[in-house]
Amino acid sequence: MHIEAISGVVQEALEEANVTLDKIDAIGVTYGPGLVGALLVGLQFAKGLSFATKKPLIGVNHIEGHICANYIQHKELKPPFVSLVVSGGHTFIVHVKDYGEYEVIGQTRDDAAGEAYDKVARALGLGYPGGPKIDKLAKEGNPRAIQFPKANFHEETLDFSFSGVKSAVLNYLNKCKMQNIEVNKADFAASFQYAVIDVLKENVLLTCKKRKVKTIAIAGGVASNSSLRATLIKDASKRGIEVLFPAPILCTDNAAMIGSAAYFNFVNGKVSDLNLNAKPNLKLNY
Ligand code: KG4
Ligand code: ZN
Repeated sequence: MHIEAISGVVQEALEEANVTLDKIDAIGVTYGPGLVGALLVGLQFAKGLSFATKKPLIGVNHIEGHICANYIQHKELKPPFVSLVVSGGHTFIVHVKDYGEYEVIGQTRDDAAGEAYDKVARALGLGYPGGPKIDKLAKEGNPRAIQFPKANFHEETLDFSFSGVKSAVLNYLNKCKMQNIEVNKADFAASFQYAVIDVLKENVLLTCKKRKVKTIAIAGGVASNSSLRATLIKDASKRGIEVLFPAPILCTDNAAMIGSAAYFNFVNGKVSDLNLNAKPNLKLNY
């Protein structure tokens, strides 16, 4: 299906942007992390395009793409800053020291934040993607109604663990079902959300303190979460820290963010060759 679709998708993207291939300077492409089948299709197509048009090929890390979505939204944003990347597949705190220079400060040891949202939403019968639905439901609930374990890792680290809170939440639901107790879905959603977001907020603020950074740029699908945005902005502003985030359409997976990362690699002379291969477990260390 990917192979069948890709040619038409590229054509449509060029038409929508009202440009032709000769107006394009370079070809940016995601080469990891991700599912190898999808990566290979994109990579082979981009290599073919690069070879045929004699335009440089630029490999992009998907996580780097999420971070660079912020440059599209905030033209004034320049490194250094701290980025919180929270999506369905990833949870990272990254110190962006310069363009293309990243240090991972904390990451999930098990599930990603968005994955926990999706699993909990499914248990509530809310459907996929669960994040936006829990976000909406939580607005009418009390975040202190139920005490779930926080998503931190109990060590001297800024890593996260979402499997504990996820299990506690699912056990709570099962127990209520078995005892025929009706669950207040809004309170439940708000309490789960609090257990997840409070730790994301604390860890990212701690990173800013440790690294003496005054700007946070959040990214990834969960960066659309209204409660994460509101609580982070509130607590960060008390410490003189600015919080930036892209529009929701630039938070969820999109090609513009890959274009943004490719642009900064290109202007900094980071060009790939045709040996570039897909790396399903590509790390964000340069
Ligand atoms: O970045 P993304 O589109 O895909 C990955 O790279 O994984 O993120 C998708 C994730 C899903 O888990 C979805 O439930 C979550 O982002 N998400 C949200 C919200 N909007 C999307 N999570 C919490 N609150 C939201 N408003
Ligand atoms: Zn993503």
